[in-house]
Amino acid sequence: MLNSLRDVLTESVRDLYSAETQLIKALPKMAKAATTPELKEAFTTHLEETKQQAVRLEKVCELLGVKPKGKVCKAMKGLVEEGAEIMAEKGEPSAIDAALIEAAQKVEHYEIAGYGTCAAFATVLGEIDVAELLRETLEEEKTTDENLTALAEGLVNDEADTEDEGDEEGGEEDEDEEGDAEEDEEEEEPAAKNKSSRSTAVKAKR
Ligand SMILES: [Fe+2]
Repeated sequence: MLNSLRDVLTESVRDLYSAETQLIKALPKMAKAATTPELKEAFTTHLEETKQQAVRLEKVCELLGVKPKGKVCKAMKGLVEEGAEIMAEKGEPSAIDAALIEAAQKVEHYEIAGYGTCAAFATVLGEIDVAELLRETLEEEKTTDENLTALAEGLVNDEADTEDEGDEEGGEEDEDEEGDAEEDEEEEEPAAKNKSSRSTAVKAKR
């Protein structure tokens, strides 16, 4: 029953706990499915953070006098299912990576909404320690989201690099490579095959 703001806070916190525990199971699979080393690393790093976030929520529940377990976050269930659909797809690795980034950012935005509101409720209720713990996680989720945006922009840039090859980079080698690049453009298949290795090469420079 929801009779007070405290009830809403405790139920939402338990919902977030379910969301985090679902993610702990999903993130290793997403890391495995990702091709770009940076994206793999982003998922692996966030897995470790997520484990800590679940522990933080256990502390929050203790402070609020409720049990963390027993609720299922249906929204996260749906988001994780969408992620699983992407992982079941076949196709160009960079496109799969792009879709995985999108799925992960949807997760982050959901969590940012949840933690943001819960932190505000905790503050209103004078639960300063609870608010602090929730804000700590909120900041981690925001940082993860920003990192994913940077990776998404990196993928877009890689596509552009592949299309305008030789325009900006590798000045000295331009003359030697120009012929090859033109050939690649004419034959569709080799260009597509080279794309993923080129993506990795471009990113490795950063
Ligand atoms: Fe999280």
